[in-house]
Amino acid sequence: MAKWSPNSWRGKPIQQVPAYPDLAALEAVEKNLASYPPLVFAGEARKLKKQLGQVAEGQAFLLQGGDCAESFAEHGADNIRDFFRVFLQMSVVLTFAGSQPVVKVGRIAGQFAKPRSSDVEKKGDVVLPSYRGDIINGIEFDEKSRIPDPARQEMAYRQSAATLNLLRAFAQGGYASLENVHRWMLGFVSDSPQSEKYEALANRITETMDFMRAVGITSETNYALRETDFYTSHEALLLGYEEALTRVDSTSGDWYATSGHMIWIGDRTRQPDHAHIEYCRGIKNPLGLKCGPSLTPDGLIQLIDLLNPENEPGRLTLIARFGYDKVGEHLPKLIRAVEKEGRKVIWSCDPMHGNTITAAGYKTRPFDRILKEVQTFFDVHHAEGTHPGGIHVEMTGKNVTECTGGARAVRDEDLQDRYHTHCDPRLNADQAVELAFLVSELLKKGKQAPAKKAVNG
Ligand code: PEP
Ligand code: CO
Repeated sequence: MAKWSPNSWRGKPIQQVPAYPDLAALEAVEKNLASYPPLVFAGEARKLKKQLGQVAEGQAFLLQGGDCAESFAEHGADNIRDFFRVFLQMSVVLTFAGSQPVVKVGRIAGQFAKPRSSDVEKKGDVVLPSYRGDIINGIEFDEKSRIPDPARQEMAYRQSAATLNLLRAFAQGGYASLENVHRWMLGFVSDSPQSEKYEALANRITETMDFMRAVGITSETNYALRETDFYTSHEALLLGYEEALTRVDSTSGDWYATSGHMIWIGDRTRQPDHAHIEYCRGIKNPLGLKCGPSLTPDGLIQLIDLLNPENEPGRLTLIARFGYDKVGEHLPKLIRAVEKEGRKVIWSCDPMHGNTITAAGYKTRPFDRILKEVQTFFDVHHAEGTHPGGIHVEMTGKNVTECTGGARAVRDEDLQDRYHTHCDPRLNADQAVELAFLVSELLKKGKQAPAKKAVNG
């Protein structure tokens, strides 16, 4: 295998590259970024990998979620808080049901670059370059906005730093304390169909905490009740940006991406001999790999050879995104290949990206298809005797109308009301918690009928 370096990807073919008109300006920005402080530390990425290792061994569950694309325009404290609150609600529902740790990874503080299926967007007679995420160009449909501007990378870096700062404060400064399990409810609109169910669960947690307090275990004495570990992740699409933030860890001498704790490779950029795989194979962070319908069992094993040659549990999360009607056909073949070869991976279900349709002129995702894909993902794993290790969702803490359906049904004609996403349609707060309750049922079912041993050998 040829020698890896943070820039060895530059010698490989590459997909999804923006056409920057001013390469000298791009180089100057990359140089600046390379001199800025890292956003995360290697030690944190290692800690996450260890926790993900537990998921790979069937002892924990991964919850990964957030915006499809973060935006500069919506960078406010309320958005971050509302997202974090719903994320905590989901994770408490899942922890309680599965009686196992939930590893929390946001699609946040760096999720800015978007792969596109077409290089251009047409409206009437006008054809412009596609929007590729706020780190690259502007979403407004005019010629100037769509020109890739390197200065946006510094904006994205600074926004990521500010977002991460607030998330760290929330996770460690008391907001995430289990003592607050009732206060996380405040975001629920009073008529939310999930609020009663959530309240009942919160009551049980409070009762348990009261009991623990009586025997001397309190949030003052036990940090696990008071704080939580929350990690960040994004698609490592814009490799010049990633390279600039790739740093050597002084304690181990290893290279780490310091743009986020975990990064993933998209379904469109996972060609084994191309740039994105080359970059990712050399850094030590936990990695995700999106697995869509075009991935064959042999192709998957080849990618695992490249990305996790030492078969380290927690290094690689396979994020299955087939579509509700395809997952039953594709997933078993991939699982069997992985099992046969004895590879330690995490299987996570992204029920969003294979279920996008157009309705009333909007890109949307029917909630029942999302549920169906998750359900089938769990069924397949139970049948194969492997661990359904996690879910990966696009969601927001706001009450948007982007995905149709849910207990408080969003109809096609409601999509226009609060359709705010900068890219793909997200679950709103209600739908996200509803999904968590469904997954909690599936986790309970899995516990009652334990799968045959997940680990090989
Ligand atoms: C995404 O996660 O937003 C995305 C583009 O996914 P995929 O690579 O699976 O299409
Ligand atoms: Co998306």
